Amino acid sequence: MKLGRLNHVGVAVPAMADAIAYYRDVMGAEVVTEPFAMPEQGVLVAFVNTTGEAGTAGTQIELIEPLGADSPITAFLARNPAGGQHHLCYEVEDIEAARDWFTAQGKRILGPTRIGAHGTPIFFLHPKDMLGQLTEIMETPRGQH
Ligand code: CO
Repeated sequence: MKLGRLNHVGVAVPAMADAIAYYRDVMGAEVVTEPFAMPEQGVLVAFVNTTGEAGTAGTQIELIEPLGADSPITAFLARNPAGGQHHLCYEVEDIEAARDWFTAQGKRILGPTRIGAHGTPIFFLHPKDMLGQLTEIMETPRGQH
């Protein structure tokens, strides 16, 4: 397997509107989506982008706020009340091949492969198997290989 580009950094936030204002006004980032709910994953999500070379999109930050009582983000925010860096997401060309690759190395995969916030298949790897980093693996959107 060849690891693709870093797609986004996931940042847990306690208050989405405040976080969006921070990235726009303090950091000068571009807010590229309105917040949208992903109820099956228990999160409210919004994307902000840095700006890359010649005005192209740079790196993406995924803001995630808990949605619902049993959100996986709730416990994270209990430990990090101000919010904080939650996961890193890397692209791969073939999600099933990547799943097999990590499984063969004994890495624990958290749940089934599912459709992520970018509309492509994703899965998460256990932070204790990944140098302490919750790791999201995402299939590169079509047309961007
Ligand atoms: Co993510």
